[in-house]
Parts: sequence; structure tokens; C-alpha cells
Amino acid sequence: MTTKTTLLLALLAAIAVPASAVLAQSVEDGEDVFKKCRACHQVGDSAKNVVGPKLNGLFGRKSGTIEGFNYSEANKNSGVIWDEATFAKYIADPKGFMPGNKMAFAGLKDEKDVKDIIAFLKQFDADGKKK
Ligand code: HEC
Repeated sequence: MTTKTTLLLALLAAIAVPASAVLAQSVEDGEDVFKKCRACHQVGDSAKNVVGPKLNGLFGRKSGTIEGFNYSEANKNSGVIWDEATFAKYIADPKGFMPGNKMAFAGLKDEKDVKDIIAFLKQFDADGKKK
């Protein structure tokens, strides 16, 4: 390799690394963000409904459909299907997106936190097993 190519590659690496670090979804960071939800939500194969419903198999299912959880009318009747877009809007501003729902959470304001928690939650299927 010529010195010029080496320099160019080093330069590209220097640019590429921080950019991907900012943009990539991170399951590990998402697990950290989930600490904000743990007071009320569980996820995984031993998850139970507590203050909030368990969050297994969230993506692709209709809101308000976890058996045995006493949802608000607002949540049950919202007609929302949880996908990345609806979830991102909900979690950024739960009361604004779904007026009347009873989740007492101000919202995640950081876009990276939202992406990371999506990556974290997506791991769990409806039985709470990691896919
Ligand atoms: C203070 C308790 C509390 C905190 C903190 C909280 N939630 Fe909730 N969450 C609830 C309750 C209660 C509901 C049910 C709302 C209803 O029925 O109106 C809910 C509902 C939800 C739903 C809809 C579930 C479904 O089955 O339709 C999602 C998704 C959700 N929460 C995600 C989160 C995430 C992610 C976090 C952390 C960033 C979080 N929540 C933090 C209490 C909480």
C-alpha cells in the first residue's frame, strides 16, 4: 500500500467510526434506557403485568391487548398497531399521542434513546423469548 492510500484509509476510518456510533441502534444502550420503564414494566420470559403491561412481543400487535392487564379505555380503543413509527411517537409524548391513557411517564425526548429502546424491546417475542 502506498503511504497516500494508507493515509486516505486512516482518514476514512476516522470519519466513519464516530458517524456509525451516533447512528446505530444499540441493544445495550436500550437496556440502559429500559431502566426508566422498569418501575412499571417487565419484559422477558418471566415478565408479569405490574403497574404497566408486560412488553413482550410488542411490535406488530394491537395496543391494549395483553391479557389480564387493566388498560384504560383510551388505550384499548386507540386502534394503534405498535410499529416503530407509532411507538416512537407514543414514547416521545405518551399523553399527547394517546390522550387519556394512564401511563404516568413524561416521555423520552432523545431520539437515540427511542431508537435504542426499540432495538432492545424488539428482541423479545410474545413469550418473552429472545428471537
Ligand atoms: C409510572 C409507570 C410507567 C412508566 C415509568 C412507564 N410506563 Fe408504559 N405504561 C404504563 C401504564 C399504566 C400503561 C397502560 C396505559 C393505559 O392503559 O392507558 C403503559 C402502557 C405502555 C405501552 C402500551 C402497551 C400495550 O400493551 O398497548 C407501551 C408500549 C409502554 N407503556 C412502553 C413504556 C416504555 C418503553 C417505558 C419506558 C421508556 C414506559 N412505558 C414507562 C406505566 C408506565
